[in-house]
Amino acid sequence: MAKEQVSHRSFGGPVPEHVAIIMDGNGRWAEERGMLRVQGHGAGVASVREVTTECARMGVKSLTLYAFSIENWKRPSREVRYLMRLLRIFMHRERRTLMDNDVRLHCIGRLDELPAPALLELRRTEAMTRDNPGMLLRLALSYGSRTEIGDAVRKIALEAVRGDLDPNDIDEETIRAYLYDPVTPDPDLIIRTAGEMRISNFLLWQMSYAELYVTDVCWPEFRLPHLLEAFSAYAKRKRKFGGLLDEAQGGGEGRAAGSRSTA
Ligand code: IPE
Ligand code: IPE
Ligand code: MG
Repeated sequence: MAKEQVSHRSFGGPVPEHVAIIMDGNGRWAEERGMLRVQGHGAGVASVREVTTECARMGVKSLTLYAFSIENWKRPSREVRYLMRLLRIFMHRERRTLMDNDVRLHCIGRLDELPAPALLELRRTEAMTRDNPGMLLRLALSYGSRTEIGDAVRKIALEAVRGDLDPNDIDEETIRAYLYDPVTPDPDLIIRTAGEMRISNFLLWQMSYAELYVTDVCWPEFRLPHLLEAFSAYAKRKRKFGGLLDEAQGGGEGRAAGSRSTA
């Protein structure tokens, strides 16, 4: 498998280290073609494969894909069943691609709510890819950011009641430590396909300083050229993290911690 890295010059800046994608528009893509909504989900698998493989090749360190929200359980049971079956089949079939690309899989969300056969395949894939040294692929499944934060607050409160944690010591890092994945750095770039200008309960805590990019392209059509467009747009962003850019600071004095430009 080719392991060459795309040079920073390809975008005029570095690739984002952590990319998170709200993979939306499967249903609309299918309906526009006179197909069933679920066929849109099936078609989206090819986009997952291509985007995962290309991100891994370009040196992205973490890719988080929003695959099924906690609110998506409200959909008709037929559609939910189809999605769960698709998840199980994907886990089984795509293992080889993940291994070939050194990708490590980790899932976040209320995973115990998934059907047992899908969860089993998912755990197998996580175990098989655990030691892969390449990109981390995080799949958000039965994921809701408010639920994640609520779960974290409950655990923190329990620690405080037990006397294991002084409430005066609770800070951002305490909260982060109780989120589903306390280790992976926050996303740098969040892409949403299919044009909706909303977050839909995705990574609310973690996206505080992420760059947002929305494209009208529906997920089943999203391929490498669209990914490169998103990376190019990202490369032009000036990230300030509440501080000032170096040039406005007369050489960087007083620069806010964490402030950085992508270009
Ligand atoms: C995204 O596509 C996939 C999931 C939410 C599981 P949608 O199914 O939301 O497609 P639209 O938004 O209805 O077109
Ligand atoms: C967000 O898409 C969830 C996923 C992509 C998994 P939705 O289609 O569920 O979001 P809304 O309903 O348009 O906000
Ligand atoms: Mg949608």
